Amino acid sequence: MNKKFSVPRGTSDILPDAIPLWEALESQARKICKSYGYREIRTPVYEDINLFKRSLGQTSDVVNKQLLELASSKEDEGYALRPEGTAAVVRSYLENSFDGKERLSKFFYLGPMFRGERPQKGRLRQFHQIGVEAIGPSSTSPFLDAEIIVLAMHLLKEMGVVKPFLKINSLGSKEDKANISSWLREEFTAHKNDLCEDCQSRFERNVFRVLDCKKENCRKIVSLVVKNLPLSAESRDYFDKVQSTLKSVGIVFEVSPHLVRGLDYYTHTVFEITAEGGLGSQDAVGAGGRYNGLVHEIGGNEKVDYGAIGFALGMERILLASGQATLVAAGLGVFVIAMKEEYQPQAFLLLQQLRQAGISADMSFTGGSMKSQMGKADKANARFALILGDDEIKNQTVALKDMQASTQESVSIIEVVDLLKKR
Ligand code: HAM
Repeated sequence: MNKKFSVPRGTSDILPDAIPLWEALESQARKICKSYGYREIRTPVYEDINLFKRSLGQTSDVVNKQLLELASSKEDEGYALRPEGTAAVVRSYLENSFDGKERLSKFFYLGPMFRGERPQKGRLRQFHQIGVEAIGPSSTSPFLDAEIIVLAMHLLKEMGVVKPFLKINSLGSKEDKANISSWLREEFTAHKNDLCEDCQSRFERNVFRVLDCKKENCRKIVSLVVKNLPLSAESRDYFDKVQSTLKSVGIVFEVSPHLVRGLDYYTHTVFEITAEGGLGSQDAVGAGGRYNGLVHEIGGNEKVDYGAIGFALGMERILLASGQATLVAAGLGVFVIAMKEEYQPQAFLLLQQLRQAGISADMSFTGGSMKSQMGKADKANARFALILGDDEIKNQTVALKDMQASTQESVSIIEVVDLLKKR
């Protein structure tokens, strides 16, 4: 027997019934992002693997365990499917010299991302993100941090996410991060042997990640040891301004000193948004933060003081959290019905005239009884049925049936398209 193929593990087909939902999300995202002055950018779905290694950090899970590499014929060339969008947007920002053209570049993107994770509900190997990045020389302003967070919350609210919950934190400047790292090591030393095996290795490689551990015992130690991250006065002041700006526009949040995020490029403000709605353990619908150092890391002019901040929302999780996965798809405009096979050429002509006029229309090419064709019109959720029977062909009319009101009228075949255009 021939092998049956199935969709790769951790990926899914988005079937026609779900497409209207995706289209709605995408068009809402585009409209809202544009209203904040962000412009769409589309980068390839794969990039040089070293771009990700250098950007996301050698100690991050995404680089260590989840990069999906493409087989390459040349040894010095390695590519990986993109696990996220930020690194590629910064690569494109520099490659296209946006820094020479404008002080602040505001981008958004929509598209599939790929991570070799162990699949579970809300955690896929191919998933889709709506992402936003604001990058520019001297663009470090608490108002921009606030704008980014407000935009993320605005998108989630508009997309019907139930009770989005915002947590924020600050990791401070690059120098602060180095100090905090030494401080954390000191604080955790006494507890090192009680940490889980993963955290013991995190302690050595990237101690920040210990704050992120989900294991009960590590969480206990973390809450005992870390009440606040020791930030410099300047970074503390910056973070205070971000918070007061958020409050001034009515954004509710919780400051969480243990929020560090899994990617290494963050400095200063970091945030995560979780939601209810049956997401289970994978309840983060979006996350982001500032990454001022990344632009230099991947080749930005050393003399320029770049600022950058962004976020990404997971589209599958938004659909789960908004309960929209079951929404009824929008229907067809007109279903054309030929009562006899010999009327099909005229029905097909009418069908094309309707489509040319911008009215969505369909018909059954296999014909069948009136009942079965009306059944198909119902299934297609058609607004009108146009029926061509003996009388109609004789009189060059059509029977126009309003499927909602269940009323029917006779209309001249020449005039019907114009008439429907107005309805
Ligand atoms: P991230 O936290 O890795 O951040 O991903 C952002 C969001 O993408 C998550 O909150 C989640 O909703 C969704 N997501 C991530 N992994 C999966 C998965 N395996 N299956 C389903 N959904 C997933 C980033 O990607 C950063 N690039 C965000 C950013 C932009 N920071 C600054 N600019």
